Amino acid sequence: MDSLEAFKAAQAKRADLSEEARGWGIDEEFISRLVDTFYLRIQAHPDLGPVFNDRIGENWPVHLAKMKRFWESIALRTALYEGKPMETHKGLEAARPMHFSQWLVLWEDVLTELAPSDDARNYLLERARSMGTRLAKGRFGNDVEI
Ligand code: HEM
Repeated sequence: MDSLEAFKAAQAKRADLSEEARGWGIDEEFISRLVDTFYLRIQAHPDLGPVFNDRIGENWPVHLAKMKRFWESIALRTALYEGKPMETHKGLEAARPMHFSQWLVLWEDVLTELAPSDDARNYLLERARSMGTRLAKGRFGNDVEI
């Protein structure tokens, strides 16, 4: 396969995956509602709230817009998110392993309430779990339990 064919094949695969996610009911409107609801719960959480608010301060609108781009890039393959999550989380002095499990519990709760289908819920839960595990290992070392 030459490089143009490889590029076209990769593009077709991305399109298939995003069609699949749309078939599960994941679209921009749902992601927007999911992210807004999730971070309201984060802000109200006794342990997670202060960690986020200390770091984000007045910049919540910027953070929410970034997280919507992030999840759209994952589920809908829009490729609009540019960021370095590993570095961001390695630099979070106040983070503890417990925060990663709390984050994932909230994510699961909000998905269970809002997801348009079981496939959408399970897909977004799995993506967050695998990324959360990688971020926690990056921040605390490979032996961390979250
Ligand atoms: C467990 C799964 C998690 C996922 C999938 C996740 C994902 C992300 C992503 C994609 C960003 C944007 C990074 C960037 O582009 O700079 C971000 C930012 C951030 N995350 Fe997480 N995160 C997780 C857990 C956590 C936890 C447990 C904490 C706190 C203890 C946390 C605190 C933050 C903060 C404060 C920011 C904003 C940093 C800044 O912009 O200065 N995250 N997260």
